[in-house]
Parts: sequence; structure tokens; C-alpha cells
Amino acid sequence: MTSRKSFGSDNHAPAHESVLRMLTDASVGDAHAYGDDPLTERASAELRDLSGAQEVLFVFTGTAANVLGISLLVRPFEGVICAESAHLNIDECGAAERVLGTKLLPVPVPDGKLTPRAIASRLGGRHDEHRVQPAAVAITQATELGTCYSIEELAELARFCRQEGLRVYMDGARLANAAASLGCELRDLSSQVDILSVGGTKNGAVGAEAVLVMDAQLTASAPYLRKQQMQLASKMRYLAAQFIALLSDDLWLRNAGHANEMAARLGEEIAGLPGVELWQPVQSNAVFATLDPVLIEELQQDWSFHVWDEAAHVVRWMTAYDTTEADVDQFVLAIRQAVTGAGAGRG
Ligand SMILES: Cc1ncc(COP(=O)(O)O)c(C=O)c1O
Repeated sequence: MTSRKSFGSDNHAPAHESVLRMLTDASVGDAHAYGDDPLTERASAELRDLSGAQEVLFVFTGTAANVLGISLLVRPFEGVICAESAHLNIDECGAAERVLGTKLLPVPVPDGKLTPRAIASRLGGRHDEHRVQPAAVAITQATELGTCYSIEELAELARFCRQEGLRVYMDGARLANAAASLGCELRDLSSQVDILSVGGTKNGAVGAEAVLVMDAQLTASAPYLRKQQMQLASKMRYLAAQFIALLSDDLWLRNAGHANEMAARLGEEIAGLPGVELWQPVQSNAVFATLDPVLIEELQQDWSFHVWDEAAHVVRWMTAYDTTEADVDQFVLAIRQAVTGAGAGRG
């Protein structure tokens, strides 16, 4: 661990002080368990109001949110079309496949965003009993590559999926970053899909995510599936309290907006450096860049960040709600020094 700010992940940031304060406030006296408490009622009502959701279910992790959301959309012989780069596909240890028995149908997409054309490429074999039947599409907003679907892109996707009889799930582990980037309301995003998750953890919570069910026809089995998937918290008030804090005075948007601004600052500063290329447009709180592997190694001696694609020399630099301008400037200076020094060293 280093005292320097980590650019490894927004998960590395501590919980926001308002969240911690709300947890302390919530921790007074008894409250009924399993969500039958005033804080859960309040947080659910606030999220319902903001999104138009029919049902709100709090869970502990983003992986659990994805599994629960998808479990409401597919039967055992049905599959889920997703981007190859989706967290669901790469970084969840096959949770959806293991827990639900569903098959993921990944599609390579250069910017992490599915398109109607990409989805159509996985629709072969429909009505063939030998084939898994595509029933749902999972998208991520903001994507794992830091890009965001525009509202128009979401609407086009939603239209296509409706025509094709496909349900849409949105992994919103960083939905706040997308909303802040697009300058839109939660409802503008939620209204395009059947089910979505809203992440708290990467945006200042200790650990809490919400699954929002938009379609009234999908709500009946949701509480049972959450329980079977071991996500029904007995002390639910503590999950709810974290969302109350994040929703108060739009803290969720302010946190995400700040993280996005810091990524934009980093992206602008490094874009012109020799040998450093932005690999994706900076649209949320992640900067993806390519640079010489020797420099990557050198920088990693002092700074925490991930190598995204070793073969292609792609790194991911992430900012968080608590990243400061000074953190960014210090990191930029280190990158600049590495670039200049290595350039001189190699002649
Ligand atoms: C886009 C996305 N979805 C889901 C998750 C899963 O979250 P968790 O690690 O809490 O299960 C992550 C975590 O990094 C993520 O980046």
C-alpha cells in the first residue's frame, strides 16, 4: 500500500463520511429485520420516485445484483447476450452461469457498448431446440471501458430488443458516473431497460447495491429469488442507510461528477504526451491509455493501477469521488517524467 492516491479502482477509495454518519445514525435502537424497517422503506421509496421502478431490492455486491437481475429475466434454457468485456462475462467467476445455469453469449465490441448489429450476431438458432435461446441482453452503464451509452443509443437498443422479444438488463455498478456524464436523470436511464442495478459501493458506500425492477410483471418472484441467492439482509437498514446518504442532496451525482472531472483532467493532461495514447474516449471515471510496457512497470513501482491488456500495453487509470486535483497533477507529473526519462534513455 502506498500513501499516494490509488488510480487502481474506485473500489480502493474509503467510504464517504456522509455514508458513515448515516450508518451511525441508523444504528440506534431496534428495527424490524429483513427490510421491514423505516429506513428501507424510505430508501426504496426514494429510488422508486427517481427511477419509476416497481420494486427495489438491496443486495450486498455488484455481482449479486447482476445475478439477481438476470435471474428475473431468463429461464434455464435461455441465454444472455453481453459484451465480451462485460464484468459479468470476465470478472464474476461465472456466477450467472453457476448460480442460474444460464449461458452467456458474449460479443466482441471495441468500446464496450453493444449495438443492435452486435446483438443480432448472436440471434442465430432461435426456435432450434438444440440451441440456447437468447432471451435477454445485458449492458453496462458506464461500461467496463469507461464509455457511456448515450440516451439515443439506449433508446435504439431498447427498440431493437423489444422488436426481437429480448429483455434488457443494465449493470449500473457505475450508473452514477454515467448519469453525471450525460447530465441526465436516473429515470432517463432506467426507463430504457427492464431491470437495472444501481451501484453504491464504487461511489462512496461501504458496500450496497440496489436492483430496480421496472416491469410490474417481473416483480412477483423477485423477493424469493433474492432470498435464495442469499442476498436478503437481516439488518437491511444498514444497506438502505447507505443509499439514503448517497441520495441526499444528490451526493451520488456530486461524487460521480467529481470522479468524472478528475478522469477528464487526467485524460487531457496525458493525451499529448509522446508515446501515450488514449485507448478509449474518457466519458466517466476511467482513463484507458496505451504506453510502453517499460514505462508501465516503472510507474507501477510507485503508483497503483491495473494493466488492462498486457499484450496491447493498455492500462486503466481510475479516479474516485475523493481523488483530488493535486492527486491527478502528481500522477501526471510522474507519467511525464517517466515518458521523458525513458525517451531520453532509449535515445
Ligand atoms: C461494471 C461492474 N459490474 C459489477 C461489478 C461487481 O461488483 P462486486 O465486486 O461488488 O461484486 C463490478 C466491480 O468492479 C463492475 O465493475
